[in-house]
Amino acid sequence: MRHFLTINDLSKEELHELLEDAITMKQEVKDGIPHPHLAGQTLGMIFEKSSTRTRVSFEVGMYQLGGHALFLSANDIQLGRGETVADTAKVMSRYVDGMMIRTFGHAKIEEFAANATVPIINGLTNEHHPTQVLADLMTIKEHKGELKGLKVAFIGDGNNNMTHSLIQGAVNADMSIIVASPKGYEPDQDIVDEAATEGSVSFTYDPKEAVKDADIIITDVWASMGDEAEIETRLQTFKDYQVNSDLVDYAQRDYLFLHCLPAHRGEEVTADIIDGPHSVVFDEAENRLHAQKALLKKLLKK
Ligand code: CP
Ligand code: NVA
Repeated sequence: MRHFLTINDLSKEELHELLEDAITMKQEVKDGIPHPHLAGQTLGMIFEKSSTRTRVSFEVGMYQLGGHALFLSANDIQLGRGETVADTAKVMSRYVDGMMIRTFGHAKIEEFAANATVPIINGLTNEHHPTQVLADLMTIKEHKGELKGLKVAFIGDGNNNMTHSLIQGAVNADMSIIVASPKGYEPDQDIVDEAATEGSVSFTYDPKEAVKDADIIITDVWASMGDEAEIETRLQTFKDYQVNSDLVDYAQRDYLFLHCLPAHRGEEVTADIIDGPHSVVFDEAENRLHAQKALLKKLLKK
C-alpha cells in the first residue's frame, strides 16, 4: 500500500514510467480505447478548499478507469464538526479503495495517511501540490520531448505548495530549477537542501537572473488559498515578480510558460504571456486528468 503525499513518494524510475503511462492513456482516450483498470473501485475525495481542476479531473479520471469518485466537502462530513482525522481515516478506509484529500496544513494529510489502510493522495496542501506537478512534467515532456537538462525558472511565491513540489519534480526529472522570490518568501530550506542532494536547485531575489536562458517559466498566484487576508500586502511585495514581455525576453526563444491555474491576469502574469504562443496552460490543465489516471492506476490497481 503506497501513499502519494509529495513528489518524492515516487522514485525517479517510477516517475518516468508514470509519465509514459499517462501519455499512453491520453492517446487511448483520443483513440476511443477503453481502459477500465479500476473497475468497481471507489475513490473518496475530501475537499477543505475550493477546486475546479482537481475535483473534475479526479472524478472524470475514476470514471474513465471504470471506477467511481465520491466528492465530500469537509463542511458536509463529520470531520468539519470535530470528528478526528484518525477516526475519519479509519472509517473511510472501510468503504473506499483510495482517498484524495485537499486540505491546509500538510501535517493533517500525514495524520490521515498514518491512520488509513488505503492509499492517500495529496490533492493540495499548503506545502505541496504533487499531482499538479505530475501534469506539469507531462506537459513539458509532450512539448519538449526530453526533460533531462532543461532549465526551469519559477517566479513568485517561493514558499508555496507549487514551488516546493516543482523543486522536487524538477530534480527528480533531471532538470535544473531556479526560484526567484521576494525577501520573506523563500522556499522551505529543508525541501531545498534535500532536493539539492539529487540535482541542481538555486535561488535568487532577481527574476531576470532566474529567467535568463530558461526553457520553462512557471508562476503561480501571489496569494494562495488561505492567504486571502494578506492580498493587499502581497500585491505590493510581488509587483516586481510579474511574468511579462520584458521578463520573458531573457528566456530561451522557444521557452514554455506554465501556470497551474487559476490565474490572475495583470498580477503574476500579463494576458499577452498566458494567452500567447508560448503558453501551454490548457494542455497543462488537461494533463491533470491523464497524469492522475496513471497515478490512480499505479496506487489502486489490484
Ligand atoms: N490547479 C489546481 O489545482 O486547480 P484547482 O484549484 O481548480 O483544483
Ligand atoms: N498555490 C495555489 C495553487 C492553486 C491550485 C493555492 O494554493 O491556492
